[in-house]
Amino acid sequence: MEDTREPSAPDVEAASILGFDPFDPAFHADPYAHYRGLAAAGRLQRTAVGLWVSTSYELCEQALRNPRFGHRPENGGLWRDAPQRNRSFLTMDPPDHTRLRRLVSKAFTPRLIERLRPRVEELVDELLDAASGDVDLIAALAYPLPVIVISEMLGVPPRDRDLFKGWSDALARGLDPDFLLPEAEIALRDEARAEFAAYFRELAAQRRAEPRDDLLSALVGVSDGGDVLTEEELLATCVLLLVAGHETTVNLIGNGALALLRHPEQLAAFRDRPENVAAAVEELLRYDPPVQLTLRAALEDVELGGTLIERGRLVLLLTGAANRDPSVFADPDRLDLLRYADGRDAPRHLSFGHGIHFCLGAPLARLEGRIALKKLFERDVTLAAEDGDLVYRDNLVLRGLRDLPIRIG
Ligand code: HEM
Repeated sequence: MEDTREPSAPDVEAASILGFDPFDPAFHADPYAHYRGLAAAGRLQRTAVGLWVSTSYELCEQALRNPRFGHRPENGGLWRDAPQRNRSFLTMDPPDHTRLRRLVSKAFTPRLIERLRPRVEELVDELLDAASGDVDLIAALAYPLPVIVISEMLGVPPRDRDLFKGWSDALARGLDPDFLLPEAEIALRDEARAEFAAYFRELAAQRRAEPRDDLLSALVGVSDGGDVLTEEELLATCVLLLVAGHETTVNLIGNGALALLRHPEQLAAFRDRPENVAAAVEELLRYDPPVQLTLRAALEDVELGGTLIERGRLVLLLTGAANRDPSVFADPDRLDLLRYADGRDAPRHLSFGHGIHFCLGAPLARLEGRIALKKLFERDVTLAAEDGDLVYRDNLVLRGLRDLPIRIG
């Protein structure tokens, strides 16, 4: 995926806010080593500007479950909050979150997702058939697959898909907290959001007039009957689904493939036991998650792991670190595809979050990730890059490669 933006993140500032520099190439190469360093200093720490940071599984899980932590914009002055009208339910608290999530879940049912299986299989076959020899796995499979799937689900005409790529790029960086983004990137994101909203407003009007068998028609449908999605809510939801569909599953496939290629004995186990693919993908999600962290604000004074978090303070929950917490996972830095294989130990990673905001798209991401990785490794695949050549995209929340050179066949 070509990324032409200037590297303009305010590194020094970010490091002092977070207590680590997320834009340091060494951090990108192995964030888990940095997390181990943080964890050694304590489960919960306060950084120079008063942000709390946790690497602990127990504390991340507790905070995500506790209704005293949420998204309301009183936040110790750090959070330049997006205007209400641009917010999706990802960053809302109950009761708004409850109402919107329920409405969207109606249109995003497991039944609808399962119906996509043959199409996902067909797409993976087509994309892989077109890729042989030296290829970039991100461009050849990991990126186009989820993009085509979410575009088809929403009912976006194929000719408009390229428009989405630009918007999605700008919007994805916008997932990072505003206090870490330079003004120019905030402007870029807001512009993309406005263009995208204009596009979807038009498409939604078409579907309202002439409904089809797609997610957008279903969302318009819920907005028209009884308890409603307003137009702003509908648009914010479409932006959320678009970004989630474009920017996360790509990294499950990319990070997952890289982990397998780097661990030949695990790759052999993956190939030998295709019936274990679901458990294997959970372990890949734990080991190198596409989403590394999330933020919550204390909505009132609240205690976390014996520490008082004052109302308005933000807590950075490093779920990527929690996934490697040795008090929960034996030998956590080891990739072990059989970790969950016998079904005794439920996958407890936090890669899809936890609590009321648990990823709504998890069934879709799992479906795509399982089919893509299984079919990819039915072929003869080798890594065609040295470790030092691998470049990660500049993003704090999302962890993913810019490209992943491999050789197929
Ligand atoms: C491997 C791929 C994915 C990962 C790792 C992932 C991860 C996450 C995480 C960690 C959250 C919770 C964030 C928080 O609590 O702050 C979340 C929420 C969400 N995700 Fe995903 N996601 C993935 C794919 C998708 C897909 C494909 C979609 C839909 C097209 C999607 C839709 C959503 C939505 C709508 C929410 C908000 C849920 C809520 O606030 O109630 N995700 N995701």
